[in-house]
Amino acid sequence: MAQILDGKQLAQTMQAEIAAQVADFTAKSGVRPGLAAVLVGDNAASQVYVKNKRKACETVGMQSGLHQLPATTSQEELLHLLAQLNTDPQVSGILVQLPLPKTIDENAIIDAVAPLKDVDGFGPESLGLLTSGNPRFLPCTPLGVQQILVRNKIPIDGQHVVIVGRSNIVGKPLAMMLMQKAEGANATVTVCHSRTKDIAGLTRQADIVVVAIGVARFLKKDMIRPGAVVVDVGINRTAEGKLVGDVDFAEVKEVASAITPVPGGIGPMTITMLLHNTLRAAILQHG
Ligand SMILES: NC(=O)c1ccc[n+]([C@@H]2O[C@H](COP(=O)([O-])OP(=O)(O)OC[C@H]3O[C@@H](n4cnc5c(N)ncnc54)[C@H](OP(=O)(O)O)[C@@H]3O)[C@@H](O)[C@H]2O)c1
Repeated sequence: MAQILDGKQLAQTMQAEIAAQVADFTAKSGVRPGLAAVLVGDNAASQVYVKNKRKACETVGMQSGLHQLPATTSQEELLHLLAQLNTDPQVSGILVQLPLPKTIDENAIIDAVAPLKDVDGFGPESLGLLTSGNPRFLPCTPLGVQQILVRNKIPIDGQHVVIVGRSNIVGKPLAMMLMQKAEGANATVTVCHSRTKDIAGLTRQADIVVVAIGVARFLKKDMIRPGAVVVDVGINRTAEGKLVGDVDFAEVKEVASAITPVPGGIGPMTITMLLHNTLRAAILQHG
């Protein structure tokens, strides 16, 4: 029976650490770190994500502002708002909640966030710095995955990590992070995607399997080596309305040595890493 890697509890611990750092920074600098959240349209899931992120900001003593725009907002209007937030001294970090309406070019918006306020870590400067081994802001979900492993003392150095999913926000940056010549990294990384032949043959070779594809209960127990560590990034809702991950938790936990649950695994870690990045942004701008 696997050790459950409790992301909810670790997130609380790390948020308490961040709250102390925020109080210290504010006392010394007179600046209260602030996150500006931009939400376009009325996607119900996005509204919940933004609400939770703003609530977490308040928990650690940061400011949080919400810029809620209608789905009819043009790209120019959104770029205009970002130009204002980029120069607003009250705003340490900018979060543009994705997905954006189809009429807006997501890349153009991501590119328009000031590099020192890119707390999602999706912008070209953040990704370039990560790739060159000198990271500034690491994307929040991959950083949450790395932290849950590191804080639970799960070795990464020299391990074979197989990541299923190659999105720009999870799989791709996570692969880049874990292959770095750095603490909490030095892994040998294999990345799988929808065109990969024999995914199970690869995941069975892994010391650590990370699944981030958005397919409910995709990873079965016969797809891992007994004793492997399994990290489930997926968030899926079943027809009955239940929240499940990309891992068949009930059966995989019988074979893995450690596993993250859904909910209560990577989700709360992602939010916490956003707080970490926002504090870091405030320090870079005012420290
Ligand atoms: N916990 C969190 O905080 C958090 C944060 C972000 C995302 N998520 C969740 O993580 C999941 C992935 O999100 P995402 O934004 O990375 O998704 P995405 O942009 O849709 O990318 C999905 C990736 O999975 C691959 N894929 C899809 N079906 C596959 C299959 N049957 N076999 C192998 N590979 C497959 C795709 O391959 P191709 O590239 O070949 O199309 C793609 O690389 C979703 O459930 C999402 O809700 C959770």
